[in-house]
Amino acid sequence: MGKQIALNTAQNGYAVTLTDSSEKALSAAREWAGKYLSERVEKGKMTDEKVSEIKARLHFEPDLKKAARDAQLIVEAIIEDKSIKEDLFRQLNEIISKDAIVATNSSYMVSSTFKDMIDNPSRLANLHFFNPALVMKLTEVVQGDHTSDETIELLLDFSRKTGKDPIWVRKEIDGFIVNRILRAVTNEALYLLENGIATAPEIDTAAEKGLNYPMGPFRLQDFTGIDLAFLAAKKTLEETGFKKPGYEILEEKYEKGEFGKKSGKGWYDYE
Ligand SMILES: NC(=O)c1ccc[n+]([C@@H]2O[C@H](COP(=O)([O-])OP(=O)(O)OC[C@H]3O[C@@H](n4cnc5c(N)ncnc54)[C@H](O)[C@@H]3O)[C@@H](O)[C@H]2O)c1
Repeated sequence: MGKQIALNTAQNGYAVTLTDSSEKALSAAREWAGKYLSERVEKGKMTDEKVSEIKARLHFEPDLKKAARDAQLIVEAIIEDKSIKEDLFRQLNEIISKDAIVATNSSYMVSSTFKDMIDNPSRLANLHFFNPALVMKLTEVVQGDHTSDETIELLLDFSRKTGKDPIWVRKEIDGFIVNRILRAVTNEALYLLENGIATAPEIDTAAEKGLNYPMGPFRLQDFTGIDLAFLAAKKTLEETGFKKPGYEILEEKYEKGEFGKKSGKGWYDYE
C-alpha cells in the first residue's frame, strides 16, 4: 500500500519520500514504480517528460530520520501489528516537526490507539486508502475525539488534490464504513448459503444483476482470500465467542486449501 500511496501522491504533484524498515522492500518499491511508469509510456498514457517530473518528486530513503524530518504529512502504512506501529509512532514523534500531520492507513486500528505516542494528537487521524491505491478513488478520513477539524479538512483536501473522493467518517468505529458494509453483505451471503437458500453463484448473480454490484460477495472473496476470511472468523470466535455465519463452510474450504484465485480453487475454479 505504501508504494502505491507514494506514487499516487507524486503523480499528483507532491514531493514524497517513501521509507521502509526493509531495504529490500524499498528497492523493490523503486523498481515497481519505475516499471509502472515505463509501462504508462509504452501504452501512450504518459509522456517521458511527465515520467521524469514524477521521478524527480518521488524519493526512496531507508533512513527514517532523513525521510520524515521535513515532512508536512506522514502516512503510516506498515505491517498491521499494534506494537510495531506504536514503536514507529514513538520514533516519529521524536523526528517530525511539531505541526506535521500524522495519518495511519490501518484498516482496523483507529488512530486513537496511537494518541499517547504523539505530542499534540489533534493532528492525528486515519487516512484509509483502498487497494490498489493508485486506482481506487475512495479514501476514508476518520476523526477521533482527539483529531481537530483542521486536520480533517487538510486530509480531505489532500485526498481531493491527489485524485480521490474522500469521505469524512465523523467518529471512530471498527471497520470504518466500507469494511462494515462489506462484512454485513458477506455475512448475509454466507447465512443464505449455509441455510440452503441458494448456491454461491446464484447469490453472486443476485448481487451482480439485482444490485449492480460489479462482483458478488463470493466472487470477491475468491480475490481477497478465503483463508484470510476464515482466519478472521476464527479470531472473532476465539476473542468473543461469536461464531460468524458460514463458519464451518469457510473452515472446510480452508482445510482443503481452497483459498480462492491464488490457490486455483475457491468458490469458483480457476484452472
Ligand atoms: N493490503 C490492503 O488491501 C490494505 C488496504 C487498506 C489498508 N491497508 C493497511 O495498510 C497497512 C499496510 O498493509 P500492506 O498490505 O501494504 O502490508 P505489507 O505487508 O504489504 O507492507 C508492509 C510494509 O511495512 C514494512 N514495515 C514493517 N515494519 C516496519 C517499520 N517498523 N518501519 C517501516 N516499515 C516497516 C514492511 O517491510 C513492508 O514493506 C496495514 O496497516 C493495512 O491495514 C491494507
